[in-house]
Amino acid sequence: MLNAKVLLPRLGVNVDHVATLRQQRQNVPYPSPAAAAALAELAGAAQITIHLREDRRHIQDDDLAILRKTVSTRLNLEMAATEQMVRIAFDAKPEMVTLVPERREELTTEGGLDVIGQASALKTVITELKGAEIAVSLFVDPDVDQVQAAYRAGADAVELHTGAFCEAKGQAAQQAELDRLRTAAKLATKTKLNCYAGHGIHYDNVQHIAAITEIEELNIGHAIVCRAVLVGMEKAVREMRDLAWAARREALAQR
Ligand code: PXP
Repeated sequence: MLNAKVLLPRLGVNVDHVATLRQQRQNVPYPSPAAAAALAELAGAAQITIHLREDRRHIQDDDLAILRKTVSTRLNLEMAATEQMVRIAFDAKPEMVTLVPERREELTTEGGLDVIGQASALKTVITELKGAEIAVSLFVDPDVDQVQAAYRAGADAVELHTGAFCEAKGQAAQQAELDRLRTAAKLATKTKLNCYAGHGIHYDNVQHIAAITEIEELNIGHAIVCRAVLVGMEKAVREMRDLAWAARREALAQR
């Protein structure tokens, strides 16, 4: 019997885009990210992820307050490494903060953090958050130098940016990106960083990422929320988790 906690990846469901739908009509209270999160948890999500952006384009401060009270698994708050956001994290006390780069004009988080270039500022924020007993993960490109820098900065974990793999066209390019992810994941676990992955993962590519056995957690938003519009949140979450777990079981069986 597999130990589900250790060997099967935890599914973090990002509910930002439930809020995106609501914010399209700014004076309506629906759909509720908290209701979506509760359904996701019922269907097997082991974490709820939200990104409180500086421009508050989807998740609002009230959403964070409500989710803090209602999430029964783990709350992962994605945020920029700013003093204002650190104060918000101190109040909300999520189980984990994922530090991400943020640019106002981007559609979604485009690249990983430059941990090497911002080492000293990040170290300060990481120390502050860890002092408040909040685990800290850094969202980085699958680059060994960035992973090493994350370790040196004192992070608990890295979330490897899977966007380049998800967008790669053709088998050779996909294979090259998968190799980068594998190498970065191996290095992360060797340095005792917890290793997570996310961005751009959908129902047809999750298998490749989940097969990397070092990856303990997948954070997936857009694909799940889009599918939920058609089949409902619980089914959308269950399908994603089942695909990820089946791929992981197969990868473990081949080791
Ligand atoms: N992980 C991080 C750090 C992100 O910024 C995002 C996007 O908000 C995700 C995961 C989820 O990406 P997607 O919505 O493409 O699944």
